[in-house]
Amino acid sequence: MSSIVIAIDGPAASGKGTVSKAISEKLQFHYLDTGKLYRAIGAKYLEGDEPISAAKNLKYEDLDNYDLQKPEIAKAASEIAAIQEVRASLLNFQRNFSRKMPGAVLDGRDIGTIVCPSAKIKIFLTASLEARAYRRYLELQKTNSELKLEFIIDQIKERDERDQTRSSSPMVAASDAKIFDTSELSINEAIDEVYFYIQARIN
Ligand code: CDP
Repeated sequence: MSSIVIAIDGPAASGKGTVSKAISEKLQFHYLDTGKLYRAIGAKYLEGDEPISAAKNLKYEDLDNYDLQKPEIAKAASEIAAIQEVRASLLNFQRNFSRKMPGAVLDGRDIGTIVCPSAKIKIFLTASLEARAYRRYLELQKTNSELKLEFIIDQIKERDERDQTRSSSPMVAASDAKIFDTSELSINEAIDEVYFYIQARIN
């Protein structure tokens, strides 16, 4: 028997982290936020490490060693994420994780297209730039009240563009992914809609 893989992709602050975690808890599946892998390498890069060797030597503990939510780490993550060798180094780890029984939820940018192209369920969560930036603004305000909404909008826009236009595994919805626009949904409504869709497909 093989594991049930749920791939949840989408742009920054589309709600994919919160939705993925909630779905994994409801189904009692394993959960991997693949953005953390790129953020941890981005953090090492900011400390002066060379990104390709940082990716090769990445350890699971590294994911807890930094304040990975910081905007400068998000920016560095999207820069190193464009390097093909960095992405290739992370493939095995992500694919091994997806084989955990009884199933795994992975969220990122290329899960349904490159990491787990044969995932049983593929979701692409999106929302307007304004809705996403406002959500990220509220989240980041908890730790840094000096951040301005305009700065977050610019950062997310720049990251979206870089993630969509890179030649290696650009962010794109898989052709067989179900697209959800969460602009007008509360987080609980988004979880309910996605869970309803998934339940109908795994029972
Ligand atoms: O939480 P948020 O959506 O803002 O970002 P994240 O998922 O933590 O990802 C940070 C950055 O890592 C993204 O902007 C992408 O450049 C990169 N990433 C990627 O290229 N592929 C993935 N599977 C996950 C993240």
